[in-house]
Amino acid sequence: MKKIGVLTSGGDAPGMNAAIRAVVRYGIFNNINVVGIKNGFRGLVEGDSMEMSLSSVADIIHRGGTVLGSARSKDFQEKEGFERALKNVKYLGLDGIVTIGGDGTFKGAMELAKAGVPTIGIPGTIDNDLAYTQYTLGFFTALTTVLESVEKIRDTSSSHGRTNVIQVMGRNCGDIALYAGLAGGAEMVIIPEVDYNIDEVCDKIMQGRARGKKHSIIILAEGAGDAKDISELIEKKTGVGTRYSVLGYTQRGGTPSAFDRLMGSQMGAMAVELLTSSVSNRVLGIKGNEIFHMDIEEALSMEKKFDEKSYELTKILSI
Ligand code: F6P
Repeated sequence: MKKIGVLTSGGDAPGMNAAIRAVVRYGIFNNINVVGIKNGFRGLVEGDSMEMSLSSVADIIHRGGTVLGSARSKDFQEKEGFERALKNVKYLGLDGIVTIGGDGTFKGAMELAKAGVPTIGIPGTIDNDLAYTQYTLGFFTALTTVLESVEKIRDTSSSHGRTNVIQVMGRNCGDIALYAGLAGGAEMVIIPEVDYNIDEVCDKIMQGRARGKKHSIIILAEGAGDAKDISELIEKKTGVGTRYSVLGYTQRGGTPSAFDRLMGSQMGAMAVELLTSSVSNRVLGIKGNEIFHMDIEEALSMEKKFDEKSYELTKILSI
């Protein structure tokens, strides 16, 4: 193993830079040249890359985003683009590639692996929607960002005696909403994993008001509905002033949490270690305090288990 590539793909996530830094420095420490591929698989198709040095990753461990850039490449998914990418892998002399991202990234990595390019995947997405791993890079930072907003919105919600619907990201996964709801003391979470009944939501709001609650916070996962529609319906049914906020991209940026930096650093080093030991076509995950690896295809075929216990607990604790 003489030369490896590293790329970040899909939605960026805090902690990706820590992982890039670890791949580069752990690689160089082990006498491996590291090439940074810009803008994910698009960079591989276009041959857009840069040689990484120790100093190229200085001062990035604490920064959100990804210094390599990220994209969702359609070209890479098509035959012609994919073949161009393979040619570039050869041209650059890459013996393996570390791919950092979510399920789309891992699908791309799996295709490369099938075509004979050794790959290791590091889970990086704020959505926490990968079934095989307990957590993904960026999830906890995004959660903290959401909680900061929830607390601010709660202040004004209390002052005005309103209901506030807060829409968070997560695509088809409700984890950001669920854990922000539990950690933020929301009255209710609405997530794609559970069918909701608007009358039950309204009853919960009215019960809370009857026992003197000044505000109601509803955290809505983007995959479960539209904040504007739901808040209008709640106001109509309850007669309580209701506002909504869509937190949007603030959730994807910002200083990565200690956990995301640690996980990024450890996973980056492990990815290099695996490639140098001729172990490839694996993805890294975390369970408890342990970082593990598993077959990429197997990981992608797993179905995410819904944390029903936390969902029920959120409801109980907000009575
Ligand atoms: O996958 C991360 C994520 O932020 C999702 O939560 C969201 O639905 C999506 O990306 C937004 O994608 P884009 O950056 O393409 O608008």
